[in-house]
Amino acid sequence: MKNIKKIIIVFTIIIVSVVLIRYVYNYSNNSNIGYKGSLPKVGAAIYKYDDEFMSYIRNSMEDASYGKIALIMNDSQNDENIQLMQIDEMISKGVCALAINLVNPKAAQIVIDKAKAWDLPVIFFNKEPDASVLNSYNKAWFVGTDSKESGILQGKMIVDLWNQNKSKWDKNHDGKISYVLLKGEPGHPDAKARSKYALDEIRKAGIPVEKLDEATAMWDAAKAKEKMDGWISKYNNKIEFVISNNDVMALGAIDSLEKNGYLSGNKFIPVVGIDAIPDAIKKIKEGKMVGTILNDANIQGKAIIDLVTNAAKGKNVFNGTSWRGNSDKSVRIHYVIIIKDNIDEAEQAYK
Ligand code: GAL
Repeated sequence: MKNIKKIIIVFTIIIVSVVLIRYVYNYSNNSNIGYKGSLPKVGAAIYKYDDEFMSYIRNSMEDASYGKIALIMNDSQNDENIQLMQIDEMISKGVCALAINLVNPKAAQIVIDKAKAWDLPVIFFNKEPDASVLNSYNKAWFVGTDSKESGILQGKMIVDLWNQNKSKWDKNHDGKISYVLLKGEPGHPDAKARSKYALDEIRKAGIPVEKLDEATAMWDAAKAKEKMDGWISKYNNKIEFVISNNDVMALGAIDSLEKNGYLSGNKFIPVVGIDAIPDAIKKIKEGKMVGTILNDANIQGKAIIDLVTNAAKGKNVFNGTSWRGNSDKSVRIHYVIIIKDNIDEAEQAYK
C-alpha cells in the first residue's frame, strides 16, 4: 500500500513537471515577446504588392532577411487605413522594429507616433517622408534614393540620345523636342522630382522643349497605355519623345505605340523610363525603348534589412555594415543611366 502511494506521488510529480516545463517553453516562444526562436521579429509593409518595382524590393528583403530576422510582410493594398491597421497589428504581435513603405508619404507622422509610443525604431523606404517628420524621432531612418538624381540622369540621357539621333527624331526639324510626359502618383517625391529635373536638364543643355501633353498614370501600365492611345490619335505624328517617370508606364506606352503601327520601320518614337526592370531591359535589347535609369531594388532591399536588423537588436543601425548614412538620416543608393551599350549592368542588378 505504502509503495502504491509512493508510485502515485512520483507519477504526479512527473506529470506536473512536464506540464510546467511545456508551459515555460511555450511562454518563452510566445509570439508576443519580440523574438521568434532566436530571431527578432520585424514588421514590414509594402504600399501595394501589385507594383512591379516594389515586388523586386520585397524579394530582395525576403532573401536578405533569411536567418537574420523573423520578417512579417504585409500588402497594404494601396490603402492608408489598411496600412495603419497592419502597423497596429504588428505592434501587438510584439515586433522589435518596423520597415515601412508608406501608402501616403504624408502619413509618416502617424506611423512615427505609433512607433514612438512603444519605443520602436522605424525604417521608411522607397517613399521618402518629409525631413522635419524624420527628424522628429531619433529612431527613424529612410532607405531609398535621391529622387532628384533620377530626373537629372534621365534628362542627361535624353540630351545625349537626342543629339546623336536628331536628324531622324526631330520630325518637323524645328530643333525642339516635342514630348509627352507620363507621371507617377501625385504627391510622390519621385514623380515630382523626375518630372521637374528631367526637363530642366534638357533645357540646361540648350535644347528647347515643347510639351504636347502630360498626365499621371499612377506608375501603371494599363493607365499609361490608355493615355498614349489618346495622345497618338490627338497629336498623330507630332510626338517626338515619350518621357516616363517609370518603366512600367513606359512599357504601357510602348504597347500602345506598337498597336498603332509605331516602333517598326521608320515610324519610330523614342521612349525612356526609370527603374531598369527586366521587361524594360528586354525592350531596350529589341530596340523598342531607347533607355532607362537603374533604380537598384536588390541593393535597396539589402540595405533596408541590414538597418532594420540592427535597429531590432537595439544596435546602431550602421553597426557592421558598409552603408554610408547621410546627415539627413538617410541611406541613398545611386541611380545609373542604362542604354543598349551598358545593358549588362542592369541585368546584373536584377539577377
Ligand atoms: C519608384 C519606382 C516606381 C514605383 C514607385 C512606388 O521609385 O520608380 O516604379 O515602384 O517607386 O513608390
